Amino acid sequence: MMNNKPLYVTQPSLPPLEDLQPYLEMIWNNKILTNGGPLHQEFETRLAEYLGVEHVSLFTNCTVALITALQALRVSGEVITTPYSFVATAHSLLWNGLQPVFVDIDPDTFNLDPERIEAAITPQTTAIMPVHCYGNPCDVDRIQKIADVHGLKVIYDAAHAFGVKRNGESILRHGDLSVLSFHATKVFNTFEGGAIVSPDAKTKRRIDFLKNFGFADEVTVVAPGINGKMDELHAAIGLLQLNHVDEAIRKRRDIDMSYRVRFTGLPGIECLDVPKNVEWNYSYFPIRVKPGYRLSRDELYNELKKQGVFSRRYFFPLISDMSMYRGLPSAAMANLPAATMAANEILCLPIFPDMTEADIERVSHVLMNEATTVLE
Ligand SMILES: Cc1ncc(COP(=O)(O)O)c(C=O)c1O
Repeated sequence: MMNNKPLYVTQPSLPPLEDLQPYLEMIWNNKILTNGGPLHQEFETRLAEYLGVEHVSLFTNCTVALITALQALRVSGEVITTPYSFVATAHSLLWNGLQPVFVDIDPDTFNLDPERIEAAITPQTTAIMPVHCYGNPCDVDRIQKIADVHGLKVIYDAAHAFGVKRNGESILRHGDLSVLSFHATKVFNTFEGGAIVSPDAKTKRRIDFLKNFGFADEVTVVAPGINGKMDELHAAIGLLQLNHVDEAIRKRRDIDMSYRVRFTGLPGIECLDVPKNVEWNYSYFPIRVKPGYRLSRDELYNELKKQGVFSRRYFFPLISDMSMYRGLPSAAMANLPAATMAANEILCLPIFPDMTEADIERVSHVLMNEATTVLE
């Protein structure tokens, strides 16, 4: 019998409910709800250990963390970034009164193309904000070289890059700051949440002031900071989730492999290459729907939807096509051919740890069927 239950692009992983009870009792007993309480401190420490970094600042979400990261480094003028991301990347620039300058992506990695960065630098450029798209590491070495030559800061939007390592080392150790998302849709979630990874204690301290209204102590406010503090309840969820994240990533890897086996040789469907020398997090399963496939990307998206499978066009439309950005000179389609093509071809299929073989079969069946049947 056909299963009509909606199958979404993701389904959040949750720790066993009974494991939360002791934390709730702790919070209710000590009446510390936020402002860097004991669970917040413990989660920061354990998270840094897990990620293989030294300095982590927890936040309410990634967007506020991105806005704060730009403040912390006193970024001004123009910032080079990718149009192929979630809107929050560029929105964080507008919230700081900064001008996004869109640079095209590398068509193979979907990340900012380092070859094209230098041509976009002007006397007003002060920073680069790349995204490790789908957890695929950016070319961090080349980006750093360009930043060093031109005296620019690098802030990675690492919303997709939880736990990703390159050559055995955390990808979050690159650039001046890296910013994570723990949103419900991510590999690791605290319902809502985020963090900034800093290279040194001094930078972390400034960020911690900024996320608490700018307070350095009871009577000293050093900057117009924001309220970006993660509370105790979310920190408790984070602590519990850490116990399960390795298993969640392993399950994602198996699903990724299962899809690849099924799609091998399917004309017009291309899977992304698994990045080399990388411990990946399998956060998304993007496919490219090429002209060799019987349906267009949007037709396939609609066909899946008709059958209760809710894939997502991450990332379509491009940020540069949105009304608040499209007037920028760098937003012109002619400047962004690879990103434009990616936005028209990509489809992210469901992937989440509790996905069953039957779920994978259900998604694959639609793709295979549509490859061979003639449309009415
Ligand atoms: C690349 C990217 N940046 C930023 C964000 C914003 O994260 P948050 O929802 O935690 O604010 C997201 C997703 O939500 C994202 O995918």
